[in-house]
Amino acid sequence: MRIAMIGTGYVGLVSGACFADFGHQVVCIDKDEKKIAGLKEGRLPIWEPGLDTLVNANAKRGRLSFTTNLAEGVEGAEAVFLAVGTPSRRGDGHADLSFVYAAVKELAGALKAPAVVITKSTVPVGTGDEVERLLKEHGAPEGCSVASNPEFLREGAAIRDFKIPDRIIIGVEDERAETVLKEIYRPLFLNQAPILTTSRRTAELTKYAANGFLAMKISFINEMADLCEAVGADVQDLSRGSVSTIASGRSSCIPAPATAAVASPRTRWRCCTRPKMSASSSGSFRPWSRSTTAARKRWRGALPRRWAAAWRASESACLA
Ligand SMILES: NC(=O)c1ccc[n+]([C@@H]2O[C@H](COP(=O)([O-])OP(=O)(O)OC[C@H]3O[C@@H](n4cnc5c(N)ncnc54)[C@H](O)[C@@H]3O)[C@@H](O)[C@H]2O)c1
Repeated sequence: MRIAMIGTGYVGLVSGACFADFGHQVVCIDKDEKKIAGLKEGRLPIWEPGLDTLVNANAKRGRLSFTTNLAEGVEGAEAVFLAVGTPSRRGDGHADLSFVYAAVKELAGALKAPAVVITKSTVPVGTGDEVERLLKEHGAPEGCSVASNPEFLREGAAIRDFKIPDRIIIGVEDERAETVLKEIYRPLFLNQAPILTTSRRTAELTKYAANGFLAMKISFINEMADLCEAVGADVQDLSRGSVSTIASGRSSCIPAPATAAVASPRTRWRCCTRPKMSASSSGSFRPWSRSTTAARKRWRGALPRRWAAAWRASESACLA
């Protein structure tokens, strides 16, 4: 399949090289002329174990190429990934979507045939709707689909994370987008990598939920380290001793009604381990409580202060 990758940074380059290695025909596009010139000569802008071999081998086989010209890069592409940066905005910390929207506007004018446009960048809930609107407004051909496919790779283990993922999230609103994404990931599908098909908004929110949960775990163990220091306990032993509880799998992440969870100290603990989230229209996270702010305050107030601090830290990570 012909794939275009807009944005050849960490995510774009790793994903592009891995897709080419799956056998697809990939063009990586970037505005940064120096970066593209270097890549054409086999010089990588980042260091990632195994990436240079993967990039150069696939470039040599003619499956991976690089360009600064978006119109040329997306010509004939069935799937166009958006992997541009979404840095935190100064002041309010919200995701700066200006690179995403600029790329979409340029893409709309460049597409000659309908394509599936897939957001790989980390974007707040509802961005896919706006991408769809912008494509229409800026003259993209009739019949384009918009999907979400958030990336979970870790720097330093990016190729392994991409090729042996613990899950692939495909957020789609139509059958064509689902078929195209499943075809792109077919080599992993055949290896039985877990592919989860969701709605587009669920996929967008899933990435933020995963980031927030990670931040909450880090905040929690840091708080435990402080507590250990204060009471003369050993945080390494505590971590080993409680890891099966802290890292417990799906069973501890099944949502329970928050209204019931506020009711008793026992269920309050259940609420801490099983938060049910919802997204406000701005894409920010709030604990779900049937909009009973008072109940939410009671729930929060009942938590030890250290827990509340950890929760707040995870909330701001979600918004970033
Ligand atoms: N780096 C990670 O480990 C990681 C992991 C998961 C998700 N993400 C998310 O993936 C997205 C990309 O992250 P990254 O680390 O690869 O960013 P990056 O800054 O390394 O790369 C972004 C690239 O996009 C290019 N670009 C910007 N606007 C463009 C345009 N209109 N046309 C063509 N190219 C354009 C920039 O020149 C840059 O090279 C972000 O939303 C990030 O949050 C990153």
